Amino acid sequence: MWCSVLWKLMAFSILLSKCQADNRVTVDRPRNLQIIDPGHLGQLYIHWNLPASLENQTECPVRFQLQFFDTYEDDWTTIRTTQQSYLAQFDLEQNIHVRVQTMLGGPCTNGSGEVLSLPAEVLQKPLAVGSSGSKIKDLSCVFYQREYMDCIWEKGHEEPPKVTYHLYFWHKGMEMAMECPIYLQSHGYRSGCRFLWDSLIEFTEFNVCVNGSSSEASLQPAYFSMQIQNHVKPGAIDTLRLETHGDGFILLEWTPPKGRIPNDCLEFEVESRPESMEGLMVRNITTEPSFNISTPGQYNGLCFRIRSRVHILCSDDSFWSEWSHPSCMPESPDYFHIWTQPVVLCVLAIAVIIFFSFSVCCLLYRKVLKTKQRKSGALFG
Ligand SMILES: *[C@@H]1O[C@H](CO)[C@@H](O)[C@H](O)[C@H]1NC(C)=O
Ligand SMILES: *[C@@H]1O[C@H](CO)[C@@H](O)[C@H](O)[C@H]1NC(C)=O
Ligand SMILES: *[C@@H]1O[C@H](CO)[C@@H](O)[C@H](O)[C@H]1NC(C)=O
Ligand SMILES: *[C@@H]1O[C@H](CO)[C@@H](O)[C@H](O)[C@H]1NC(C)=O
Ligand SMILES: *[C@@H]1O[C@H](CO)[C@@H](O)[C@H](O)[C@H]1NC(C)=O
Repeated sequence: MWCSVLWKLMAFSILLSKCQADNRVTVDRPRNLQIIDPGHLGQLYIHWNLPASLENQTECPVRFQLQFFDTYEDDWTTIRTTQQSYLAQFDLEQNIHVRVQTMLGGPCTNGSGEVLSLPAEVLQKPLAVGSSGSKIKDLSCVFYQREYMDCIWEKGHEEPPKVTYHLYFWHKGMEMAMECPIYLQSHGYRSGCRFLWDSLIEFTEFNVCVNGSSSEASLQPAYFSMQIQNHVKPGAIDTLRLETHGDGFILLEWTPPKGRIPNDCLEFEVESRPESMEGLMVRNITTEPSFNISTPGQYNGLCFRIRSRVHILCSDDSFWSEWSHPSCMPESPDYFHIWTQPVVLCVLAIAVIIFFSFSVCCLLYRKVLKTKQRKSGALFG
């Protein structure tokens, strides 16, 4: 008896799930999913069409769920849109994997909420050009003073003979990729590119491709994408003034570095250490172009230097500038030390020579005068 109840229950549940499956609304997947490369070195245009079965329906809302594998983040990105296209940034050295699903909602789904179709999918592999060893190694870009940016690369370990490198770049607002405006040379080959600030744009992708041509073998192109506001390196600070106050404070003041970085985007690091290099080194960060250091002990022989960078409110990342030349408080007077200074010795030597020459001159002059007097005395005497 128990057995038959169980049997009926099972049969009922199977029937129920079958009914649900039958009742489930299905939606067709999008048509013509395409990835279009407009030559922007990584920014691709993803395009698809509405499924034919939904072409003429107007009563239910249709959306699309787009997913693509973001190789920079190493994760899938999901976007929901009512449009039939999307612009996204990809690394052209990696596989490009895109999926789009149709989402149907409203009365058309028989009350089961929003219904997703199976995905339309495209997997595009990078073009196989040249051996991987022929590709340049890392590209490092530094935006000096926000005035010009130098991007330097290193040759691949399997460089084809007689290769000429080419760098192309693209950013928003450019119709098409352009070649490097000023190539930098090193050991007779192109090793970098210089961009002036007016050809650059911040807070958007700046895409770069370095490829090359060689008569013997082809070179695998390398692609990079960056936001250039994160590559700024301020110039070194060149004027640093120290002022002592009797109350045990030293006031440091400096002029912010020249260049196109707004002063309120800079932060400064002040390093203080004894000139002898022994003892405690202290580093403090400030956003003001001055710093008040309290020196409870004695401050003779303390040295200071400053460097700067763009702080976190203006960009996610930046490079430290070079250190300024150190400025030191004078050592406590040490007479032996002073007397052995080369400058002091030189001045002394010059003074002795001048004094000696002057004495010799005086002596000679007197002698000449005396002989003249004697001669005139002999004539008229
Ligand atoms: C909605 O459900 C009913 C029965 O529950 C079914 O007859 C009908 O075909 C379903 N509609 C759609 C669009 O699947
Ligand atoms: C949609 O409408 C157009 C024009 O009225 C027609 O040519 C087409 O066949 C229709 N499509 C479907 C799927 O019914
Ligand atoms: C290098 O890349 C640019 C931009 O994509 C392209 O126009 C050019 O033909 C490529 N050159 C070589 C030698 O592959
Ligand atoms: C500077 O840094 C040192 C060590 O971190 C700290 O003790 C000191 O208070 C800081 N000075 C100022 C003025 O912030
Ligand atoms: C430095 O700081 C001390 C204590 O905060 C203050 O008394 C002194 O006036 C300051 N000196 C300058 C030049 O700002």
